[in-house]
Amino acid sequence: MAVLKIKENVYWVGVIDWNLRNFHGYSLADKGTTYNAYLVLDEKITLFDTVPEKFKLDLYHQIQQLIKIEDIDYIVVNHVEPDHSGALPFIIEKAKPEKIFCSTMGKKALLDHYHNPNWPYEVVNNETVISLGKKSIKFMETRMLHWPDSMFSFIPEDKLLISNDGFGQNIASTERFDDELELELILAEAKHYYANIILPYSSIVQKTLENVQNAGWDIDMIAPDHGLIWRSHLDKIINLYKDLSAQKLKHKAVIVYDTMWQSTEKMAKTIAEGLVSQQISVKIMSLKSYHHSDVMGEVVDAAAIICGSPTHNNSMMPLMADFLTYMKGLKPVGRIGASFGSFGWSGEAPKHIAQILEEAKFELPLEPLKIKNVPTHETLAKCKEMGKALALEIKKKLS
Ligand code: FEO
Repeated sequence: MAVLKIKENVYWVGVIDWNLRNFHGYSLADKGTTYNAYLVLDEKITLFDTVPEKFKLDLYHQIQQLIKIEDIDYIVVNHVEPDHSGALPFIIEKAKPEKIFCSTMGKKALLDHYHNPNWPYEVVNNETVISLGKKSIKFMETRMLHWPDSMFSFIPEDKLLISNDGFGQNIASTERFDDELELELILAEAKHYYANIILPYSSIVQKTLENVQNAGWDIDMIAPDHGLIWRSHLDKIINLYKDLSAQKLKHKAVIVYDTMWQSTEKMAKTIAEGLVSQQISVKIMSLKSYHHSDVMGEVVDAAAIICGSPTHNNSMMPLMADFLTYMKGLKPVGRIGASFGSFGWSGEAPKHIAQILEEAKFELPLEPLKIKNVPTHETLAKCKEMGKALALEIKKKLS
């Protein structure tokens, strides 16, 4: 892949991972991803971030298209997660940089990951300004956005924010900028990324957006470490982050379920009818067809999450247990929850689901709904009523 000039003497030197489908072992990335690294050519030649270990030679070749690798003076490590630091030991060995800039927590994480106390670490913070010659770098620690070590780098002379995972999207493409692909697609992937990686840290996102504004950073390009670089639609991605971090909800419900003999599925569809009859938009998502990360992509702006499972061995189906554990960890707040399911003889699943939703701080206005074996017209009517009642709760909440 050719390197690309993104600003005068600033180059994208990243790699494209066309074949990635499972991002970090928990989120789908059905369009692949990129690992963006950036090289600044100045009196001090500086590399921002690296790529996974398995792509170290690709990064090496990218850099060598512009300079000799040993000409690198500085390396900035904005984030130590291995998709951005895996190639670091190799690059350090080749480049022998004068300094490696990282946050306090970044240094600890680098030591924990690579066990090398002899690297030329230089810890930076929000007050640090590093001169590269004509250009300079400022930093902003973004602890827990989404790791303790995470930070942003800003090059004021170029109005360029290198934002690491922030504002990223999992898209493998030959295009590098946000005006070169369909904007809706890029925003949809940014939302999916937010829902699965950033959501638990939403209050930190809000604080960070405020801190960037207070710092007076004049930004006309945001270069994340995954996906497309924002140069034309900064307002769109910033507004998306504002809405998602405020957990702004829509008149929308997600019905997520698993089923054995389609009785719980019938309940799911009938609950949806009740919601739709009251003008609530519904996504019906079987966990056998939708990965938990794709469900989260819909949960992220839905006002109600309605979870169904038949009772299996006195509890819920395994895929529902997986989904609830995953969703609870991502800490969506201010949502309405509800549970339902069919049963043969004991019927614990809806109650167990409700308990987890309660622990996850969902509001549960209705009792769990369970139906014995195959639903009848009469019992399905109860499902429709449940949908209507939840629609009223959504409207009340969003009024
Ligand atoms: Fe893209 Fe948190 O690593």
